[in-house]
Amino acid sequence: MSVMDRPGGAIADADLQALRKLLGAGGYLDAAGDRAPFETDHRGICHGRTPLVALPDSTAKVAELVRYCAGRRIGLVPQGGNTSYCGGATPRPGGGDIVVSLRRMRRIRAVDPAGDSLTADAGCVLAALQDAAAAAGRLLPMSLGSEGSCTLGGIVSTNAGGTAVLRYGMMRDLVLGLEVVLPDGSVLDQLRGLRKDNTGYDVKQLFIGAEGTLGIVTAACLRLFPRPAVTATAFAALASPGAALTLLTQLRAALGDAITTFELVPRLALELVCRHVPGGRDPFERAHDWYVLAEATAPQPDADLAARLEQSLAAAIDAGTAADAVTAASMAQRDALWRLREAIPEAQRAEGSGLRHDISVAPADLPRFIEEGRALIAQHAPGARLVAYGHLGDGNLHFNVSAAAGDDGRSLQAAGPAIRRAVHELVARHRGSFSAEHGIGQLKVDELARYEDPAALELMRRLKRALDPCGIMNPGKVLETAA
Ligand code: LAC
Ligand code: ZN
Repeated sequence: MSVMDRPGGAIADADLQALRKLLGAGGYLDAAGDRAPFETDHRGICHGRTPLVALPDSTAKVAELVRYCAGRRIGLVPQGGNTSYCGGATPRPGGGDIVVSLRRMRRIRAVDPAGDSLTADAGCVLAALQDAAAAAGRLLPMSLGSEGSCTLGGIVSTNAGGTAVLRYGMMRDLVLGLEVVLPDGSVLDQLRGLRKDNTGYDVKQLFIGAEGTLGIVTAACLRLFPRPAVTATAFAALASPGAALTLLTQLRAALGDAITTFELVPRLALELVCRHVPGGRDPFERAHDWYVLAEATAPQPDADLAARLEQSLAAAIDAGTAADAVTAASMAQRDALWRLREAIPEAQRAEGSGLRHDISVAPADLPRFIEEGRALIAQHAPGARLVAYGHLGDGNLHFNVSAAAGDDGRSLQAAGPAIRRAVHELVARHRGSFSAEHGIGQLKVDELARYEDPAALELMRRLKRALDPCGIMNPGKVLETAA
């Protein structure tokens, strides 16, 4: 029998009793009110049911839990901060999955300034890790909207991206070592900070971005970097995404890899932030079609950095690349500019009904992609509004759509599947990705099966079968439930 023989079927009372005993007092939640926050995703679109949320307090306890569930073919759904955009941490509806939260595992195990690494339990919240690195005079560069709630295990398991990928890479680039409880309850101990280790297959890579389908990450060792001594932030107005790419090239020529962030903001997104988010204010006197938020940092005191950024922007305006630009003269101004970018998801939600796509193509292809995509959306949903924003320097845009102003969005939602197909077909024609940073979860399982290279897909299925033959790890996520 495997979990698939009783898809989402309820867990027997005797098993629940045994699990309560195994986890001990304080080691689980089973009252309906306590379980509820774990049963729905933060977008409110995926709903599941779990009879019990496990709160193990050690790697040994996680291993014990997994071993029991493997023996009894009980599904396990690891959940960090529950901010997945794809329902990756929501249990199935039938009540057959135990949610596993490592929120009691929040120990920072070590900060090593000489080795430039930090080792911590998977339940640590990202912001606490950033603070611990800062207290040691180092930088943990992972930075994203949910940093106050997302956990180390979640961002490793989803290979999180965010707004500093341009300079520091995605989570995969920051992981030096991992500790993982495998689907049979054994523990993979690769929790080391080695920069060089060429010993066979790099098996820890399998668990980064696996979304908990191959095991439960219980701890990680991350790379640290020099802490920026100076930061210069600008918001520039431009006529087109093509101009924004030209600006990126010009800024890099002038400032080298000091550029850490280069984010695209369309006019409509700025308007939505000004409308819905307290403190949102257009920094320019007149409207422009596109904007970028650009930030440069330097590890050494460099009084010139802001001046060089300003000079480069002035030169870009003279050359006709940019129409206007402002720079932040204080931390408060910097925060205000960042808010114009970071509050876009919240502002779009407040505006009403919308569709989301998380695409990437080669940066040079983005301007054409945006125009082709805009035309497709106009065909399928006349009047709907494109809100294409995000990580321009990484070739990754959140290619979102909002219903026409005042529209209840019913017809946009009805056209949603056709629009998604059209956008993802366009992505495929550009040899891009239909999920650049938000993963697969449960919402994009069919898309993966459809668009992934068949050889890669087959390899994924074989890996899943080999590592998790009973299919207990986060069933129904990433890959369709395997036999
Ligand atoms: C962002 C999230 C949606 O970039 O990935 O705002
Ligand atoms: Zn993003």
